[in-house]
Amino acid sequence: MPMIRRPRRLRSSEAIRRMVREHHVRTEDLIYPMFIMFGEKKKIPVSSMPGVYNYSLDEYIVALKDVVEAGIPAVLLFGLPESKDETGTGAYDPHGIIQEAVRLTKKHYPDLYVITDVCLCEYTDHGHCGVIQDGRVLNDPTLKLLAQTAVSHAEAGADMVAPSDMMDGRVGAIREALDEAGYTDIPIMSYAAKFASAFYGPFREAAGSAPQFGDRRTYQMDPPNGNEAMIETALDIQEGADMIIVKPALAYGDITYRTKEQFGLPIAAYNVSGEYAMVKAAAEKGWIDEKRVVMESLVSMKRAGADLIITYHALDAARWIKEEQ
Ligand code: PBG
Ligand code: ZN
Repeated sequence: MPMIRRPRRLRSSEAIRRMVREHHVRTEDLIYPMFIMFGEKKKIPVSSMPGVYNYSLDEYIVALKDVVEAGIPAVLLFGLPESKDETGTGAYDPHGIIQEAVRLTKKHYPDLYVITDVCLCEYTDHGHCGVIQDGRVLNDPTLKLLAQTAVSHAEAGADMVAPSDMMDGRVGAIREALDEAGYTDIPIMSYAAKFASAFYGPFREAAGSAPQFGDRRTYQMDPPNGNEAMIETALDIQEGADMIIVKPALAYGDITYRTKEQFGLPIAAYNVSGEYAMVKAAAEKGWIDEKRVVMESLVSMKRAGADLIITYHALDAARWIKEEQ
């Protein structure tokens, strides 16, 4: 029998490959996470994440220039407070690090879209994402503090808030508080499907947010559970989430795919710190081609159904995308 179907015909040159390419990573899809601290003239490298820094506010504004010039439309901000306490006061302090960073960003770059991570773990002395009693993370008393944090970010000028704590009911609590404060137009991008992952290790070094006892398995999801991710997502949408995050990204492409199929709303895949660190380490050793591995990873997130990608590779990716054009 003659072979009529030959898929290789459409792979025979770069021109035809470009023409039939199904997915693309665009610079507009990228969200760049940044870590901000108090102080002056500080740009402290995060050792497990080459190219990522903890910035004091002045250095942060300098660094933002590259982000804006690269055409990256949005940043996701994380803060390192001056001091930590039991209830994470620094998270909802009107003059806390994030609140100051947001105000400063809007002053210098009013069109840059500012998303803030809403959580307590960077601000609590025990490093958990909620308040603690007898060694347990309490759900309902935490909601009020998260809501207060979100409102304080909105007051400072944040365009969108992104709760990452995984307490039950937090999206509803935040939506209600934002609305009551008059911020009915501020969207919520919830970390709906956030797994208790070992891939967050380097982030905890960057944010100084490792739990001082126990782990996050009583609130973040169990990695083997896919159906449960759909339940979490459905609840967050019911409570008012406008967009959702799937996190981590690489080992959870099935979750991105299912979420997009089932709910259809905009999805962001979070290409987390450990994923970044692995690529950087292997590239430094000369074991992989960094650019190709990064772009292949990012397009896999798009293929799985992500609309947006939160990634520490954003600056490099934006440059590589430009080079290809
Ligand atoms: C805070 C938070 C974490 C990340 C984003 N927000 C860490 C955690 O849950 O321990 C992880 C980001 C990354 O690893 O890049 N709740
Ligand atoms: Zn947290």
